[in-house]
Amino acid sequence: MTNDDLAQILETSDGWIKSRTGIERRHIAGPGETTAQMAIEASRAALRVADVDPRDIDLVIVGTVTPNHIFPATACQVQDALGAVRAGAFDLNAVCSGFVYALVTGHQAIASGEHRLVLVVGADTMTKMVDWKDRSTCVLFGDGAAAVLLRASEGSAGVLATLLGSDGSGGDLLTVPAGGSAIPVSAETVERGLHYLRMDGQGVFRFATRVMAQATEQVVKKAGLKMQDIDLIIPHQANLRIISTAAKRLKLPMDRFVVNLQEYGNTSAASVPIGLCEAVESGRINSGQNLVLVSFGSGLTWAAVALRWGVTPSKAISPKYRIWWRWLLYRWAAIHRWLRQAPRRLMVRIIRTAEKQNGH
Ligand code: COA
Repeated sequence: MTNDDLAQILETSDGWIKSRTGIERRHIAGPGETTAQMAIEASRAALRVADVDPRDIDLVIVGTVTPNHIFPATACQVQDALGAVRAGAFDLNAVCSGFVYALVTGHQAIASGEHRLVLVVGADTMTKMVDWKDRSTCVLFGDGAAAVLLRASEGSAGVLATLLGSDGSGGDLLTVPAGGSAIPVSAETVERGLHYLRMDGQGVFRFATRVMAQATEQVVKKAGLKMQDIDLIIPHQANLRIISTAAKRLKLPMDRFVVNLQEYGNTSAASVPIGLCEAVESGRINSGQNLVLVSFGSGLTWAAVALRWGVTPSKAISPKYRIWWRWLLYRWAAIHRWLRQAPRRLMVRIIRTAEKQNGH
């Protein structure tokens, strides 16, 4: 959906959106398309690129605030659809910082020695949470998903330092008021639009410009590096002005930052991993380079990771028979799900019929 498309349904313009945010278009999930579906697609792509058997995954973490349901977790649906039969799975809610928080959690799970292979996904369909009549928020967001696999390894590459932050006192700056235990959904909340995202744009802007530079500086220092040692920064893609203000504060040129928000808008937890994947695919990231991933979001939350890229990204992908093998595993996962669900459903039907016959 381009800015001009939006201008047809709202009082806005391409000029306003571009000059205030840098966003030119965003991608919108189709009516039946869910966060879980996009997360599954992204995860299968990651498994293909890494040539990994889904049965080897130990843990699935999905950073999201737009899960298919409040529960069960979207991560469980991803785990099931992949046939990751040995894996534990959970969603992580840190809003736009969700992926970087999940990456830190996955890294710690590996560093503890408990797990060897962790799938980390960032996936959100924010366009399902925005009020399409509110021009100050709906123009900012888009939908997306991206995934990475973390594997235990020896050597100097990998995560060098991590940083997580939270300031709950700013929770009201960006929130969905209804739908939780404080204000359960009711006809009244729907009528008042309390199930939509609400934002104090300028408050978030001030927080974001401060925290993005600060978190980057702190994580670089923690890694024992200097700012000039950093080859590429992959920041959360909320607003070009936030990224350029951070660049100025860090005294770094803009070409040191990945920027793709013109194409996707703010995809929440998906924004940093989409930037990472695109930078890898375009050859901008190579083995031995130092990267910083940095994000901020509602909560308030912020998170940063300094890492040394250790794999040479291969365009090539797995041998054909392995692609087919994974395809079979995914089909088997679907059959397996059906085989487990069918007897449960049959049992429920039998019990209900018996209850009806007994007059309950
Ligand atoms: N099209 C045209 N005009 C718009 C508009 C739109 N889509 N949205 C708001 N406006 C208007 C406002 O109504 C206001 O009009 P007024 O002066 O007549 O009242 C005017 O533009 C200025 O609004 P303001 O809110 O001051 O704009 P801004 O320069 O602060 O930019 C944001 C607004 C939202 C782009 C900016 O504050 C921002 O990016 N904040 C951070 C948001 C964010 O990153 N959120 C996600 C965090 S993870």
